[in-house]
Amino acid sequence: MKNKLNSKRKVFIRTFGCQMNARDSEFVIGVLSERGFKKVDSAEKADVVLFNSCSVRKHAEDRLFSNIADLKKLKAGKPGLLVGLMGCTAQSYKDKALERAPVLDFVCGPGNEADLPEIIANVLKDRCPVVATDKTNEKRPELFPEYRQSAFKTFVSIGEGCNNFCSYCIVPYVRGRERSRDAKDIVREIRGLAGRGFREITLLGQNVNSYKGANGKGQGASFVKLLEGINSIDGIERVRFMTSHPKDASTDLFKAMRDLEKVCEHLHLPVQSGSDRILKLMNRGYTSKKYIRLVQKYKEILPKGALTTDIIVGFPGESDRDFNSTLKLIKDTGFDSAFSFKYSPRPPARSAKLKDNVPADVKQKRLEAVIDMQCDISQRCNAALKGKTLEILVDGCGSKDPRLLTGRTRTNKITVFNGSRGLIGKFVNVIVESVTPYALKGRMV
Ligand code: SAH
Ligand code: SF4
Ligand code: F3S
Repeated sequence: MKNKLNSKRKVFIRTFGCQMNARDSEFVIGVLSERGFKKVDSAEKADVVLFNSCSVRKHAEDRLFSNIADLKKLKAGKPGLLVGLMGCTAQSYKDKALERAPVLDFVCGPGNEADLPEIIANVLKDRCPVVATDKTNEKRPELFPEYRQSAFKTFVSIGEGCNNFCSYCIVPYVRGRERSRDAKDIVREIRGLAGRGFREITLLGQNVNSYKGANGKGQGASFVKLLEGINSIDGIERVRFMTSHPKDASTDLFKAMRDLEKVCEHLHLPVQSGSDRILKLMNRGYTSKKYIRLVQKYKEILPKGALTTDIIVGFPGESDRDFNSTLKLIKDTGFDSAFSFKYSPRPPARSAKLKDNVPADVKQKRLEAVIDMQCDISQRCNAALKGKTLEILVDGCGSKDPRLLTGRTRTNKITVFNGSRGLIGKFVNVIVESVTPYALKGRMV
């Protein structure tokens, strides 16, 4: 068994979903590399193809299964090829994934991902499919081999799972209960990253504000305490985090964002709806008034801070009046940007029991109305930055024109300007000359 794993098997991984999944894919590549696997960049070159999946909306899931089915032809010409499903859809479907996608050889939930080398070995040994989805509520092993996609900015998970059970959301069912990593393990990981030249880290958790890690003295450390610890790590220059839940975000957090120089001035605070009736049905734990008050505090404490959000349109029973409350909240709040989604029933999430009664064309119109309104607001927010000089961490260059560099401001705005590729991974100052709703354009100064 060991010999088989030690001969360099080639693995290709396709990642869907959120940043958590992007980080998990790195984790898995790290674990597999340690056991003799080599990462390749296409399914054609691979011995093992992994799909790291997202179940947050039905559309994402359907696209995933159609991508998996596309491998049928490749597998027919390459009988030794193994195809595996990991991530949230693996956890949600378990053995049913094998029925929906017979091309699969194994199914591995997020909690079982550290066991992938053994799972693959067992498939090879027994020549029959393996389903490993039992470790939903365990902590991941801490000392894992490291793989990072980028050399200068990266994600660090501070915990997994979610206890909030927003009625529309599948995450608590596929990621289990909230588990916080120990603060000392997180700080050790980030120190290691700083030593290897990383400059920006993004802390990840479904609800970072409910973080309760041990602080080394057997007591729970709060998220603000964790930020303080990370802020003092030499070499790291930017710290970001997501996601904050409005019911748990507090002025303490905003003050920490103001006072800790490495913590970037960007808050992602999903509101989902502006209607109190719908917020209640969503089990969000706040009213639109409470949300607006929280945002006022944020803007008072961080007047130049950016604010972004998520919106769901077409939740069961959402009337024109409910939807207009959402539009009003978007208008009054003035988000820098917003991700908006059409509601999608996700059993066993509770709202799936409600009738999905907003017609598809109404959902579509509402989505377009949100996008149109937000586009105007984003354009105005960005236009206010014209003539300002901002610090950019350069993160890439244009595929067509390599002289065109891209990067992000501390407030997380994409910025485009001319410069040489050697600047990727470095900080530069850019004066903003023109803007679109989605990006700033300027020149280096
Ligand atoms: N923990 C994070 C991420 C949740 S998923 C958070 O609480 O913000 C990211 C976004 O997907 C959510 O904020 C929500 O806007 C959207 N989403 C989740 N479930 C959905 C569903 N069933 N239908 C449509 N959008 C959904
Ligand atoms: Fe889902 Fe709500 Fe948890 Fe976010 S906070 S992951 S939306 S249940
Ligand atoms: Fe992320 Fe999708 Fe899972 S949003 S937590 S990959 S369901």
